[in-house]
Amino acid sequence: MRCTVFGTGYLGATHAACMAELGHDVLGVDIDPGKVAKLSGGEVPFYEPGLADVLRRNLDAGRLRFTTSYPEAAAFADLHFLGVGTPQKKGEYGADLRHVHAVVDTLAPLLDRPAVIVGKSTVPVGTAAELGCRARELAPAADEVEVVWNPEFLREGFAVADTLRPDRLVVGVDPSRPGRAETLLRELYAPLIEAEVPYLSTDLPTAELVKVSANAFLATKISFINAISEVCEATGADVTALADALGHDARIGRRFLNAGLGFGGGCLPKDIRAFMARAGELGADQALTFLREVDSINMRRRTKMVQLATRAVGGSVLGTNIAVLGAAFKPESDDVRDSPALNVAGMLQLHGAVVSVYDPKAMDNSRRQFPTLNYATSTVEACEGADAVLVATEWEEFRIIDPADLGSVVRSRVVVDGRNCLDRRRWTSAGWRFLALGRETMANVQQYRLDA
Ligand code: UDX
Repeated sequence: MRCTVFGTGYLGATHAACMAELGHDVLGVDIDPGKVAKLSGGEVPFYEPGLADVLRRNLDAGRLRFTTSYPEAAAFADLHFLGVGTPQKKGEYGADLRHVHAVVDTLAPLLDRPAVIVGKSTVPVGTAAELGCRARELAPAADEVEVVWNPEFLREGFAVADTLRPDRLVVGVDPSRPGRAETLLRELYAPLIEAEVPYLSTDLPTAELVKVSANAFLATKISFINAISEVCEATGADVTALADALGHDARIGRRFLNAGLGFGGGCLPKDIRAFMARAGELGADQALTFLREVDSINMRRRTKMVQLATRAVGGSVLGTNIAVLGAAFKPESDDVRDSPALNVAGMLQLHGAVVSVYDPKAMDNSRRQFPTLNYATSTVEACEGADAVLVATEWEEFRIIDPADLGSVVRSRVVVDGRNCLDRRRWTSAGWRFLALGRETMANVQQYRLDA
């Protein structure tokens, strides 16, 4: 089959490469000639494990191409995926749909044969129906153009696996236009359906809502365990042991129950805010007020981390050297959008600390977006002369640090584990004072009470 994919960010580029991997002929479309040139040359403009291999294999096989030309895309296929970004509006909770609208407004006037536009981006409920009307209004093929919604659930760092072996496929169609889109998508996804990936057919608003509800649930799960970790901190309980015990209950499950610095990135924070904003517009704002709490528990983690670091260096960070290990919002990604790690580094710097940040993959993005922070080129360089070492993103290379070795470069052996990813015993037996978000030892708790 043939299809196009509009938008070649981490969602669109992955979808385009993976659809080609399934054997289809795919044309990726982006307004940014720089991205198109890189992708055409087999280079992925962001860090996503495994994607470059899939990209190159399919470019070489001639199944995948990239272009900036909308007329070329309209002529190429009758199935058009929409994978552009829907960021948070500046200064508001709602989603900024300008990129989605721009694609439809530019593509639809070129559609002179029956066509299906398949939305993959995360959008406020009601967007698909509105885009359908708009596309039919603008397209020469008019009523022969359909908009359906097939939300994407992929995680950064696992984007290829999540696209080629998703937990489920959800396709929302307009019930007044049954048939065509459904047939095309079942054919496109046939290899996945044959591999027993559940294919769920819904109406448009349900499909749009599945995505935001999934992200709201995941965010709630993380904030739940982080809220419990605040109680753990107050009592000397260990949130990690608690999460392990909770997770054995199959109804709860252990995944997404890691307490620490909380969620960031380009999806969960903005998606729960856009969900609240949309519910408000629909008169259902009361239903989602709990998400406001989910958001504030999450943002509080970052201040708690700063407080813990402050305690760790004796009550004031002014003039101290603090190493921040991690800048990406999570491991296996170079994405620093709404990164808790950089937020913490920035706050510490504001309080007068000399901060040195190191991340295995996100240095370029960090430097570009937060040019005022100091960056090191390795863990050891970041930690030289440090009064405290903070682990803010749980990269494997930080988990396996040898605390005895690192102990020889720091000024004080003080480590703050913001992701509950380090082996406390290894660090303490190498002479480190070990502090962790949500896992305070009774000794530390008592010390705080004495301090207070
Ligand atoms: C998320 C959703 O998982 C995905 O389905 C959706 O399509 C896009 O948004 P992603 O943003 O890639 O994916 O990251 P995810 O793995 O969900 O992690 C989000 C944030 O939560 C990260 O900052 C991570 O560090 C944090 N997190 C995750 C926790 O703090 N604790 C956990 O237990 C899990």
